[in-house]
Amino acid sequence: MANSNRAQFSSRLGFILAAAGSAVGLGNIWGFPTQAASNGGAVFLITYLVMVFVLAYPLLVAELTIGRYGASNPIRSLISVAPKQKALGSAVGIAGLLGASGILSFYAIVAGWFFGFLIGPVLSAIGLESAAAWLEGFSLERNLILMGVFMLLTIMVVKNGVADGIEKWSSRLMPVLFVLFIVMVVYTLTQPGAIDGLKMYLVPDTSHFSPDLMVSAMGQAFFSLSIGVCTMMVYGSYLRKDANLPKTAAQVALVDTGVAFVAGLLILPAMFVAQKNGVQIYNDAGALIDGDTLVFSVLPAMFDTMGFAGIIIGVAFFALMVIAALTSSISMLEVPVSCACEELKKDRKTVVWWIGGAISLFSALIIFNFNTMFGLVITVTTEYMQPILGLIMALIAGWIWNRNQVLEELSQGYPEFGQSKFWKVWPAYVRIVCPILMAMVFLWPMIK
Ligand code: PFF
Repeated sequence: MANSNRAQFSSRLGFILAAAGSAVGLGNIWGFPTQAASNGGAVFLITYLVMVFVLAYPLLVAELTIGRYGASNPIRSLISVAPKQKALGSAVGIAGLLGASGILSFYAIVAGWFFGFLIGPVLSAIGLESAAAWLEGFSLERNLILMGVFMLLTIMVVKNGVADGIEKWSSRLMPVLFVLFIVMVVYTLTQPGAIDGLKMYLVPDTSHFSPDLMVSAMGQAFFSLSIGVCTMMVYGSYLRKDANLPKTAAQVALVDTGVAFVAGLLILPAMFVAQKNGVQIYNDAGALIDGDTLVFSVLPAMFDTMGFAGIIIGVAFFALMVIAALTSSISMLEVPVSCACEELKKDRKTVVWWIGGAISLFSALIIFNFNTMFGLVITVTTEYMQPILGLIMALIAGWIWNRNQVLEELSQGYPEFGQSKFWKVWPAYVRIVCPILMAMVFLWPMIK
């Protein structure tokens, strides 16, 4: 199966940082804490943790394993595990490629905003107030330009391929992200008011538990681990055969969950610090103000009250967001790029520009029709495509893929795998439990 001159990650750590880089993104640092804050804090945290390990982790193993076995782009990899259902494999691969491109098209817009908030305070500190206001305001031109800048960064990294582009930049950026993050958490936790946020985040109030909360936590787990749209499959295809897949997947899931957890330690206390400083965080009806507003207005307002330190902390925070977004966006772009390079036998450097350009055009279309398209693309890609494709991949791995081949693939890098507890549970689990749990994502709101 394996193609000997195919690109590979140069080390296991490099792979883990790249895969964790894909998983850790706006979903962790912005999506998770805001969802936790609006869904009762600790209760959401616990449900989310259960969802990650009960549902998302086994699927991550499935997606990575299919990718590594195929050692090719997602379309070929899916066909290789289901050779008799070629049409199904191609359809899922193409849907994954479209899903990853769709996610990138809205992700680049949001990442662009963060980029604006990164540069804005620096410009206003040197007296360029109106340029700063333009970057932080909401206009068609500003959205287009910032999205374009972010897409350009993504294209530049992916252009250089796996080891020199994706792995090199993920390995540089992820440690920076961890360090920045810890500094910010420590700073925030020492501020007055922080303890209220900490209590909300860590002390469960079970009255907040509901079926909707389970559904949201499940969706968040999918998005956060980048499951269903072939990003993990394509990264798996660049992974060396000596890596132990269940262990590697567990490390990626732990890093991703760890970052989401720490992001909660930062954002929830920061909200209350901001409130102590006179910033409104709840609306008149007593509900937390909207997710978008939380990061883009509450946090800068908190940074403003900190004087000069606030500028540094603000720049650090938005730099963190851009770094996290970039290590995720490169994994999204890699899906269509790997398919086009290998299927159409084209040169990576050319393909990246064409595909990156096409996705940027689609992003521009969203920007021009913001009110109708932005929410729609997010809903279609993350609430429908990710779970449905994730479910189909679980069904392919569990029901269609030859069991001996699965065992053989998983035993590489872990010779005693056949005797492990993981192998006793996982196949049946992916065949039956995962599909049932995932079907609930869709059925629960309908029967409620
Ligand atoms: N996991 C990323 C985040 O949490 O921001 C988002 C993401 C990346 C989703 C890659 C899907 C994907 F294929």
